[in-house]
Amino acid sequence: MEISKIEQIENYVTAHTDAVSPLLEELIAETEKITGRSRWSIGRVEGKLLQLLIKISSARKVVEVGTFTGFSALVMAEALPEEGILITCENSPEFADIARRYFNKSPHGNKIQLKVAPAMETLGNIPAGSVDFVFIDADKPSYGRYFDEALRILQPGGLIFADNVFWRNKIFKENITNENARAIAAFNEKVKNERQVEKVMLSVRDGVYLIRKK
Ligand SMILES: C[S@@+](CC[C@H](N)C(=O)[O-])C[C@H]1O[C@@H](n2cnc3c(N)ncnc32)[C@H](O)[C@@H]1O
Repeated sequence: MEISKIEQIENYVTAHTDAVSPLLEELIAETEKITGRSRWSIGRVEGKLLQLLIKISSARKVVEVGTFTGFSALVMAEALPEEGILITCENSPEFADIARRYFNKSPHGNKIQLKVAPAMETLGNIPAGSVDFVFIDADKPSYGRYFDEALRILQPGGLIFADNVFWRNKIFKENITNENARAIAAFNEKVKNERQVEKVMLSVRDGVYLIRKK
């Protein structure tokens, strides 16, 4: 069977990107076995992009909104320096249990603080201007509020990385009926019009927004 152009590009991109660690491969496999939703995780290419962004920006304190089973948290922890800290927010105890198990298996797990609570609650306890990097990847209707909180907790020059800004290509429809797609479309307009930030939208996987607080 002939593969589509998009699949061809994705296969080529993956083949020319560094592999992730064996522990992360194990986590992807177990996530699929237990939840059947490994596609919720950012995957290998976006994971490597996050690692490079963290290294290039010399980030030390990272906040993640949406842990799921811990793939992206561990990816970022691997890229942080020894004294680096990553606070990750998840409101499902079941997903958090899987994540915690993998954080405990990793030599980088000691950098991660897993907060099992609604993300807005955890974000509200983080002091203003104290964070270098925020990764947004939880419930889509709250993206706008997470963005506002990210702007508050980031220091000037800090980065925001938001996932799924194409929402499975549903945002390209003329009449958007899907609730998540509407929320993402509103978020994208909000970021586009925000003068406190510089930004670039990238067509990586399901679309990502890379944003820098001025
Ligand atoms: C797409 S998954 C995150 C995937 C993860 N970043 C990765 O790449 O491996 C989104 C996660 O956000 C969690 N979530 C949804 N709403 C939340 C909320 N209000 N507070 C905290 N976590 C939330 C969900 O339970 C889910 O595990």
